[in-house]
Parts: sequence; C-alpha cells; structure tokens
Amino acid sequence: RCPAFIRLRCAGTVAADLRREEQPSGSVETGSKDKTPKKTFPEVQNERREQAQRTVLIHCQNKVSERKFLKYLSQHGRIHSHFFYESFGFYAVVEFCQKDSVDSLLKGTQTPANGTEAAIPFRSRFLSLKLRSPPSQGSEQPQVLLNNQLPPSNRKLSELLCAAKSIDDQLNTLLKEFQLTEENTRLRYLTSSLIEDIAAAYFPDCRVKPFGSSVNTFGKLGCDLDMFLDLDETKKLDIQKNKGNFLIEFQVKNVASERMATQKILSVLGECLDHFGPGCVSVQKILHARCPLVRFSHQASGFQCDLTTNNRIAMKSSELLYIYGTLDARVRALVCSVRYWARAHSLTSSIPGAWITNFSLTVMVIFFLQRRSPPILPTLDTLMTLADEEDECVIEGNNCTFIRDLNKIKPSENTESLEVLLKEFFEYFGNFAFSKNSINIRQGREQNKPDSSPLHIQNPFETSLNISKNVNQSQLQRFVELARESAWVLQQEEAAAPCPPSKQPWGLAALLLPSIAQNKKVQKKLPSERIKSLLESVKNNIAQSATHT
Ligand code: CTP
Ligand code: MG
Repeated sequence: RCPAFIRLRCAGTVAADLRREEQPSGSVETGSKDKTPKKTFPEVQNERREQAQRTVLIHCQNKVSERKFLKYLSQHGRIHSHFFYESFGFYAVVEFCQKDSVDSLLKGTQTPANGTEAAIPFRSRFLSLKLRSPPSQGSEQPQVLLNNQLPPSNRKLSELLCAAKSIDDQLNTLLKEFQLTEENTRLRYLTSSLIEDIAAAYFPDCRVKPFGSSVNTFGKLGCDLDMFLDLDETKKLDIQKNKGNFLIEFQVKNVASERMATQKILSVLGECLDHFGPGCVSVQKILHARCPLVRFSHQASGFQCDLTTNNRIAMKSSELLYIYGTLDARVRALVCSVRYWARAHSLTSSIPGAWITNFSLTVMVIFFLQRRSPPILPTLDTLMTLADEEDECVIEGNNCTFIRDLNKIKPSENTESLEVLLKEFFEYFGNFAFSKNSINIRQGREQNKPDSSPLHIQNPFETSLNISKNVNQSQLQRFVELARESAWVLQQEEAAAPCPPSKQPWGLAALLLPSIAQNKKVQKKLPSERIKSLLESVKNNIAQSATHT
C-alpha cells in the first residue's frame, strides 16, 4: 500500500487527502492496522459542502482546448481542480480556490436570449459555454481526457475477477472498480449544492445534504443520489420569537400535521425543480409514500435523485453506516460483493417491490460481522455507551446517540480473511431461522420476531419499524436458496483447490454466474410450466364465458 499512499501525499491536494481518509482503500489488511486519523461524518459533509460551493458545472457545446478553457476561467481566480466527463453532453467540473471567483464568473454570464423562447432569469452555477468560433466540423477536435463516471462492463469485470490471485483479491478488485471515485463524489456534492440553490429561492436558510449510499461509504458508481432538505436552520430563527410580542407570520403557516407540512414543502419544491431547475427532468412528486419525496433526473450529472425532507433519522443511519464502513476495510469489500451478487441474481432491483434492498443487505452484513468471534464490528449499543455528551441525539423521541469520533473506537482483534467471511456469510444466512428471529444491529443478536413479516430487520433507530417489511416469502426463499448454493460452490472450490488465475470463472466470479440459480430452476421447470399453462387455460375459459354472457 505504501507507494499509492506516498503518491497521494505527494500530489498534495485537499481532494486526495479527503479521498484517503473518507474512503479507506480496498486493501486486504484489516482496519485495525490503519492508524490514519479518520474524519467524522459531519466533518466530511461540511468540507465537501464548502468545496461544492466553490465549484461550477459547465456544459460545453463542443470539446474545448483544456489549456484555453482553464486560462479563460483563471481570469476569475485560481483553479483548485477540474475534470471533464461525458453524460448527455460534454461537461466540466471546475473547483476554484475561493468562492469569490464563482461570484466573479457569474457576474460575467448572460441569460440566453432566444426569439421564440423566454428565459426564466434564475442564476445558477450550472453554466453553458458557447464558443464564439467553434472548431469547424472537419477540423480536428481537441483531445480532452474524460473522467469515467460509469462502472465497468460485466465482461471487463469478469476478466478482472478471473485474473485475480485469490478470492480476497477478487473482493477487493470488485470494490476498487465499483466504489465511488473522488470525482463522482464531488459531482454528487455539487449536484446537492445546485439543488440547494434552487430550494434556497424559497427557503433561504435551508440546506440540501446528500445521504444514503452517496455518502455512507457503500455507494457504487451509478447509484442514486438521495438528498435531504434540512430546514432546521430556518427553525433556529424561531428561537427569537419568544423575545418580543411579534410572531413571524410569513414563516409560520400552520397546517394540520407535520406530515402535511412536509408534503406541502416538497410539492412546492417539485414545481420549482420542474419549472426552474436547470437540467432537472422527469420530476415526480411522490407525496403519499411513508416518507414523501420528489424524484427527478439530473440530466447533467446523470444522477437519479430522490429529495426528501423531515427525514433526519435517515441522515443519522447514513452516519452510522459511515462509521461501520470506515472502521474496518473488510466491511466495504464484503458489502460490495454481497450487493453485487444479489443484483446479479435479481434479488435486488431498481424498481420498488417485494425485493430485498441494498440497505437491508448492508445491515445484514453488519449484523453478521457483529456475530463473528471475536466481533469485527461493535453493536450499536456499544457505540452508544462510548458516546460523549456532545454525541447525544434524540430525534422525534428516538434515541440516536452513538459515538461519532471513529478514532475512539477500539479496532477489532479479528483477522479472518474476506474469503472466509464471504463463505461464512452465505452459510450463516443460508441457515438463519428467519421464521422465528429478527435481525437487530442495536444489540448484535437475534431476537424473537415481533410480527409475521417473512424478513424482519429492526430499524436501528425507529426500533418498532422493520426495514425489510416489503420483502415477501418467495423473495426471501430465493435469497436463502442462493446463499446456500453459493456457500456450497465455495466449499467445492476449496476442496478442489483451484489455482488462480484461471480463464474459467472461479471464486467470486463463479458465484455471479446465472448457472447457480438455474441449477435449481431445471428441476422446477416442468411443474411451474404446467401450472402456468393450466392458469392460462383457466383464464381463457373465464374470458370466453364472460364474452358469451
Ligand atoms: N433508509 C431507512 N429505512 C429504509 C430505507 C432507507 O432508514 N427502510 C435510509 C437509509 O439510511 C438508506 C437511505 O435511506 O441508506 C437511502 O435509501 P436507499 O436509496 O433505498 O438505499 P441506499 O443505502 O442509498 O442504497 P442504494 O445504493 O440502493 O441507493
Ligand atoms: Mg440510495
């Protein structure tokens, strides 16, 4: 690991430092050996937010000469970093050293004027560059190095996995290829910051903070961008109201419930994004969900975005996951592989339904790592007992207290390899008494299920809730069957002692093949086909008799 570490230090950029500390490298060693002081979640969030505010997003209509482009922008101040990428067009992300430079650049911009269309004069940090003399069609396009924002193809990944030296190496390779890059992380914070500018037109002191897998260390390239509209700063102004005889009437408009207030705020923001949000398309207001949200695509970044408000607990669970993901390097590698394995077998899906979610899978891995002997991860109760006074946090009556300074948590003594952990994970959940027990990372042990949902994973903070309530029996059954088969495949390989690297899929690559799922299907095919055709004939009969009637 040393050469990479030295290289990052020599580069000497804040960005490199942020990356090193925020995302522990996917190395084989356990977190226990890593002595680098780690940043707290709020520290990372604040630094990234400040960085995003010094950054602009520029849509370039043609490929530009990098040198000329930077020279032009440098008129407004020193540039700290930049990169180009391709999404629905060609874009540049430019971070200045000072925020003043962004203001200076914006002063020199103009709103597009077009005879047939009227522009809405909303000044955003998302700009469009139009060259006065663009390079002609025939002339050579400037060469620009594009930063990749996409995960590798299945084929490329399969090659990489086959060429790995061991199963541990495979898990680390998968993580390295899929984890969010420094640039992708910056783009995520920048997008949140641009959305915050729009929301601030209505709620001047609001904050839009990314949460979920974009920031909890478990994100992968291509994952959605969850954002939380924090109106707490606005609420803090209310403290003033007891001082005099006046109430701030324009800020406090009473509605029947907190939920209704959330729905109204999101409804207004949904309209705002739809009408004024540069690059925001396909805006959907999903206000009747348990947690109301506005869903949209941010075309320039290519992110599918979910904006919620009044969702502070989810923010807290992102912080908890950040702690677990940063404590020990094995956690992220194992979670990444389990998530990838689940996606490869369609156990998870991007469409909401009765499937297990990535969040549930992550909590299952954390639970499993708490159950190892000695434990690899501490329980939430342990993290609570380590908490200081300033860590205390109660949200809507739920105790969300836990230690936030990672450096105060004792590293695990456990030295099990990723290979062992992966195999044991499949064995553990292949034999778990789901019908009787609930998964509980607060206490780090199974508990009796409080209800009859097939899969019960207690929400770590709202303990009466089940985070996998949506999962039905047949999806759970598929998970269990695939887990058993995967444990079996790994066991067989161990017995056969393959000598990697090999052209044939082995280790993790063998677990991702559809064949392990199909082995079972072959036996079932006949009866299910028969039942299908029986159902079809019954349906036809009903349809026919309905027509006759
Ligand atoms: N969350 C929660 N309870 C749930 C579902 C989600 O508390 N039942 C919170 C978690 O903090 C989760 C975040 O909302 O991380 C975002 O949810 P989601 O986008 O579904 O999961 P991610 O962790 O972001 O994973 P993915 O990469 O699949 O988006
Ligand atoms: Mg998400």
